[in-house]
Amino acid sequence: MTNRRLLSCADLVELDELDEPLSDQGKCVPLYGRTPRQLADAIRRGEWPRDMDFDRFMARELLPVSNRYWSQLVVAERMSQWLDALGVESVVDIGSGPGKLCVAGALAGERRFVGIEQRKNLVHEARRLAELFGVSERARFVHAVFGETRVPQADAYYLYNPFGENLFSVDDALDGEVELSNRRFVQDTRAVEALLRDAPVGTHLITYNGFGGRVPASYKLIHSDRALPCLLRLWTKVTPVELGEGPYDDSLG
Ligand SMILES: C[S@@+](CC[C@H](N)C(=O)[O-])C[C@H]1O[C@@H](n2cnc3c(N)ncnc32)[C@H](O)[C@@H]1O
Repeated sequence: MTNRRLLSCADLVELDELDEPLSDQGKCVPLYGRTPRQLADAIRRGEWPRDMDFDRFMARELLPVSNRYWSQLVVAERMSQWLDALGVESVVDIGSGPGKLCVAGALAGERRFVGIEQRKNLVHEARRLAELFGVSERARFVHAVFGETRVPQADAYYLYNPFGENLFSVDDALDGEVELSNRRFVQDTRAVEALLRDAPVGTHLITYNGFGGRVPASYKLIHSDRALPCLLRLWTKVTPVELGEGPYDDSLG
């Protein structure tokens, strides 16, 4: 399993495409120079800004890796549409980075988000962004290592290939602040599999560029969007019974 290749979004999208509207619905409008309040209002109206308009409020050092490591706004948009239709009220983002997905998701509706993130500086940044965009009551962030902490129960769990970094070369890692290893990759993907097996029927799993492990056979694939920079999928647990092993959830599937 450790040798399975996880595509990174950088394989698919070049950094200089940051300026390009990613929405396939043509709703992505230039809102450069707008205040966080104006951007928040625009998202609430369904007028999604370009990533660069949102990202300019992030700490400068996080921008060069934005397209590779942080979910694009069009992903938050599509996810929100799916979750609205399913009546999902709560989402846990496992490996939430600087909170872009949670903050944008909270702006798009009334859902509650909890982000779990191992890097302290990213947790601080996520809390700052949530405050800035006025959603800190519904977008909360926990500084913790997934696998070593109790994960709050939620209607849906979101994973943007959080453990792939363990398999990247040292140069491609975010920083040298945390342990990155094959051992961690195996441990963390197995912890996700266990979480999903133990979750109640009706739980949803959203993966963006996969998570590297197997989706239990009790989950059914409901939505898939291949038009985004990476593959976005939503699965729902439909039975308490596990009949055999489920499929690997990576971008190649
Ligand atoms: C690809 S980024 C995705 C960030 C965010 N979910 C988004 O979509 O914008 C993956 C994040 O997961 C975090 N991460 C990886 N393994 C983790 C673990 N075991 N516990 C907590 N955070 C983890 C990394 O530090 C990184 O910030």
